[in-house]
Amino acid sequence: MPYRITLIPGDGIGPEVAEATTRVLAATGVAIDWERAELTAAIMEQAGTSLPPHVLESLEKTGIGLKGPVTTPIGTGFKSVNVAIRKQLDLFANVRPVFTLPGLKTRFQDVNIDMVIFRENTEDLYSGLEHEVVKDVVESLKIITRHASMRIARYAFEYSRKNGRRKVTAVHKANIMKLSDGLFIRCCREVAAEYPEIAYNELIVDNASMQLVMRPESFDVLLLPNLYGDIVSDLAAGLVGGLGVVPGANMGENHAVFEAVHGSAPDIAGQGVANPTALMSSAILMLRHLGEGAAADRLQAAISATYREGKHLTRDVGGSGSTWEFTDAVISHL
Ligand code: NAI
Repeated sequence: MPYRITLIPGDGIGPEVAEATTRVLAATGVAIDWERAELTAAIMEQAGTSLPPHVLESLEKTGIGLKGPVTTPIGTGFKSVNVAIRKQLDLFANVRPVFTLPGLKTRFQDVNIDMVIFRENTEDLYSGLEHEVVKDVVESLKIITRHASMRIARYAFEYSRKNGRRKVTAVHKANIMKLSDGLFIRCCREVAAEYPEIAYNELIVDNASMQLVMRPESFDVLLLPNLYGDIVSDLAAGLVGGLGVVPGANMGENHAVFEAVHGSAPDIAGQGVANPTALMSSAILMLRHLGEGAAADRLQAAISATYREGKHLTRDVGGSGSTWEFTDAVISHL
């Protein structure tokens, strides 16, 4: 039986990187029956919502989505589609593996970076609770709950146990936000005590940011509340070549959406030059989620081999190849 999976190609470069990704997935031999759910800025405007019912219904039915970028309509007050999907499906964990691609020229190319970032996805300063107290004084509420903190901590430690990760670093600012970040860190400690085989330490977010730049190879698993997680995961992406090459996953109890974290890149859309690495790498996370570990390993090896060879890379990473040359090279390595 093929897997039934929702494919949201998105717009801009989305359809190109989605086609490249479905082609390499087909070449792995894993049978997938795609349910396409079109979502573009125009569709959102017509539907009057960033998450039209056909997209949500498909994700609810299949439980798994692979998503390209979608342009956010400007000035219409639309919520980001990603935030809407996370909220509707309660995708509480944002997972971002960050690792060195062989042969990719970056400032840190000689360092072996291999970390996985777990960001709480549902609360903190992203709860959207803001108001004006009196004129020119606004308040934005930072919500931290034991429920959400325990859930993300347990998710990170379970992942570490299953994947042989050795150290979890919780990141916080509990020296200043004693109640909110204090609760987050207490939950992390409580969960850490249940996993004695995994080392646990804590870093204050400013120090963590410096250490990430100075000694990125010393990090294994990072565990963060929403805001710090958002910032630190992009900082970490910058260490290994930027948003064009890192994958992302949004995980809930019953649903999972795998997505490229870059935007729809209107400046290069339709030109066949977009780099599909990020969405292909997100598809690798999806294969692992499906239990197709061998196919995931083969696809990762094929992407790494294509980078090591360096002949068919796209412009954004210093090559001159097209999206399709890169894709064909990955398929030939499979
Ligand atoms: P962007 O990520 O689309 O582009 C920034 C720069 O990176 C551009 O120069 C672009 O050409 C380049 N770039 C991005 N992805 C690339 C790839 N795969 N290959 C080669 N080059 C790549 O960010 P921007 O311009 O801020 O956003 C454009 C639109 O995308 C906006 O409407 C924004 O709201 C939306 N967006 C959607 C996201 C999503 O659906 N996940 C995430 C971020 C932005």
